[in-house]
Amino acid sequence: MRKIAVIGSTMMDVVSYTDRMPAAGETRMSAGFHIAAGGKGANQAVAAARLGADVMMLTAVGDDLFGKNSLANFEQNHIDTRHVLRIPETANGVASITVEESGQNRILIHAGANGKFMPEQLMEAKNDLAECSLIVLQLEIPLPTVYAAIDFGRQHNIPVILNPAPAAKELSLEKACACDFFMPNESELALITDMPAGSLEEVRAAAQKLLAHGLKNIIVTMGSKGALWINQEQETMVPALKVRAVDTTGAGDAFIGCFAASYVLDGKIRQAMERASRYATLSVTKAGTQDSYADERTFAGYLKEN
Ligand code: RIB
Repeated sequence: MRKIAVIGSTMMDVVSYTDRMPAAGETRMSAGFHIAAGGKGANQAVAAARLGADVMMLTAVGDDLFGKNSLANFEQNHIDTRHVLRIPETANGVASITVEESGQNRILIHAGANGKFMPEQLMEAKNDLAECSLIVLQLEIPLPTVYAAIDFGRQHNIPVILNPAPAAKELSLEKACACDFFMPNESELALITDMPAGSLEEVRAAAQKLLAHGLKNIIVTMGSKGALWINQEQETMVPALKVRAVDTTGAGDAFIGCFAASYVLDGKIRQAMERASRYATLSVTKAGTQDSYADERTFAGYLKEN
């Protein structure tokens, strides 16, 4: 089977639900709470694996309880963990998340072990990485590691998806140009291009700026509006289904994980976007991040009905 390498972060998500965010200096009671496996890399890996993809995770976890649970979570989701490193005397990555009644979230991250996943450690996996058919990256690990992965993809002719999340102004556009797909959301696109990206017209203009820099395929995830794919030849908008959002945390990761699982099979971009859009929409109707990711069977049932 064609294997996907997800090179990225692993976090433990500590999530509180509230009707509104506390103001500065204010203490509020939360309406609900849970701890669950997260991290943009891990989320994308789990989404792809639940949809039947063969996934190898390259990441670093802490040598604490959260690290142990994160490793067990990869195993439960049938993900290849040969290159999941446990970093001694280091805490696992943690994301403190607050979700409002509208489903919107705010996230504060402590990188922990993710911050120690350096290019030298990535290169220890080079033989297995060379066997993969797709590399998926985000920005919750050190940028030099992201760049090493992009270079590796180019040298070995392996397509690369870069999800520039969380947005980093210092991201090298030259490295982004070496990726086959660049997949920001609207706020990441705005920060990277220094342009507004609130309306479809603004998103188009900002994406055009990246195309002019030499980026190849830009897919902008736009939440309830859908997703826009632009390259030098064409522009495709895939609208999202309208649903009542319960929790949007990890919806972008659901999109990318599903896109990767579909694209690696046949290389069809529009079809992969359509599936990914449905998968992300389904995920926002449930609370949690990975907890809201459907398996293959549930998703097939949902696709029949929607
Ligand atoms: O994209 C959602 C993810 O961002 C959460 O799971 C959290 O861990 C943060 O990395």
